[in-house]
Amino acid sequence: MFKINDNYQKLPGSYLFSTIAKKVAAFTEANPDKAVIRLGIGDVTQPLTAPVISALHAAVDEMADGATFHGYAPDLGYAFLRETIAENDFRSRGCDIGADEIFVSDGAKCDSGNIQELFAADSRIAVCDPVYPVYVDSNVMAGRAGTYDAATGYWSNVIYMPCTEANGFVADLPKERPDIIYLCFPNNPTGAAITKTQLQMWVDYARKEGCVIIYDAAYEAYISEDNVPHSIYECEGARECAIEIRSFSKNAGFTGVRLGYTVVPKDLMCGEASLRDMWARRHGTKYNGAPYIIQRAGAACYTEEGRASIMGLVEYYMENAKTIYDGLKKMGYTVYGGVNSPYIWLKTIDGMSSWDFFDYLLERANVVGTPGSGFGPNGEGFFRLTAFGTHENSKAALERIAKL
Ligand code: MLT
Repeated sequence: MFKINDNYQKLPGSYLFSTIAKKVAAFTEANPDKAVIRLGIGDVTQPLTAPVISALHAAVDEMADGATFHGYAPDLGYAFLRETIAENDFRSRGCDIGADEIFVSDGAKCDSGNIQELFAADSRIAVCDPVYPVYVDSNVMAGRAGTYDAATGYWSNVIYMPCTEANGFVADLPKERPDIIYLCFPNNPTGAAITKTQLQMWVDYARKEGCVIIYDAAYEAYISEDNVPHSIYECEGARECAIEIRSFSKNAGFTGVRLGYTVVPKDLMCGEASLRDMWARRHGTKYNGAPYIIQRAGAACYTEEGRASIMGLVEYYMENAKTIYDGLKKMGYTVYGGVNSPYIWLKTIDGMSSWDFFDYLLERANVVGTPGSGFGPNGEGFFRLTAFGTHENSKAALERIAKL
């Protein structure tokens, strides 16, 4: 008989957002008359903007003509997009990143799950607690996490870095040395942001200890405060120790379109081995590139008109963040996030567990959120609401919660 990768058997339950979707589907089936408002998964609700739609139409027309048709995309991404990204997302902010260090992909989720392939099987990872589940689950699948303790919710071989009210949801440096450190700022799920001084401390630590930082900046467009870095490469020395992952999902609304990219600088070396070359080798072997029409849509986000339209989307969602944040505060909830982030992180009431609060909101207000404990043990007693709904639904959800 063939053998399976039995690391998959170690994973408890299903993926967090699949579990929630199943619970909500069961509720709506049992209560077809109830209109459920979904503020759970961070999925966008607003349509693609006009410049993006025009670029898509034009690219589709190109595909209809033999003279302008495109077959396989270059597996690292088209030069027109990589150059645009390097210039606009990095060099314009003073970050020394070249187009040949940018790897275009079909999204940040895939990249954040796949990047661990570059590292030795016995590498130790450090994650924030609570954390976006993909970082841990993908390392469980690769056999790096050890064994799961259902009582504590921790994996034996993972270093957890608590993110709590006491540290403002920005982890302290780990007590043991990891090989790989996952950081996500602005943070999913807590909505916390990191200052440049704090991030520099992580970069200095990684260089001193010989660690690599996987920096997930998928929510970068939501940064509103000046002292919050948009890229880890704003920190000195980050080219030697950090990989950065970006997404077009949350800023340009590409959750259903799929486009992202990863930056692997040439200075990131392990002895003689270049991680940039390794990632290029992986892309070449396992990936045929994001579709031409989608990369054209991505490039359209960087024109003057494109930028303005994307900022319009971000402003739309941030208005919801304010509605939710202010509304909950007024009701007496303890609330975090929502300032540099589309996520609002609130404390449950009356010491309710995160899942009890999930059921309470679903059953009594017909509002879906995400239980904090689904992101890790330190998320227990917290709950996440997303600002990616419509204005109408965000307001209606608040009105329903106020009536409880
Ligand atoms: C979330 O809700 O945490 C995100 O939407 C999930 C994702 O981007 O994969």
